[in-house]
Amino acid sequence: MKLVIGNDHAATEMKFQMMAYLEQKGIEVINVGTDTNESFDYAIAAYKAGKIVADHEADGGVLICGTGVGISMAANKVKGIRAAACSDPVTARLTKQHNNANIICFGARIVGIETAKAIVDAWLESEFEGGRHQHRIDMIHEIEDTQSLAAAQ
Ligand code: RB5
Repeated sequence: MKLVIGNDHAATEMKFQMMAYLEQKGIEVINVGTDTNESFDYAIAAYKAGKIVADHEADGGVLICGTGVGISMAANKVKGIRAAACSDPVTARLTKQHNNANIICFGARIVGIETAKAIVDAWLESEFEGGRHQHRIDMIHEIEDTQSLAAAQ
């Protein structure tokens, strides 16, 4: 498995801790975030990671900023990305099972490293359930592709 990881300055230390955790599991990790604590705009890492996932050059992505929110908003602007900001493992599991999230996001100022590991594990170990959830995801991408939604007319 190959994952891309990205972060801003608020999450550099957690990014390195998460990289080590993932690599210890045998996961190949592409690092597109900042490696320093100097101010770094999260949209850069979000865009790079989103493109890599959307182009199927990685199996998924992990994005970390202060809250997990800004970096997920930016990643979700890349066509084909379903990035979910989570602060707990239950949401992380459900966002794979129901939303087929291809990028998981969290905040280094919100969760500690053990919760972050549990969030990533829940996302990695869950499977998309398809069925009615695929129909709803199709609607998300209809909005993305057309800026309209037939079912809402
Ligand atoms: C950076 O200070 C902070 O705004 C950023 O890491 C993130 O929390 C934004 O959503």
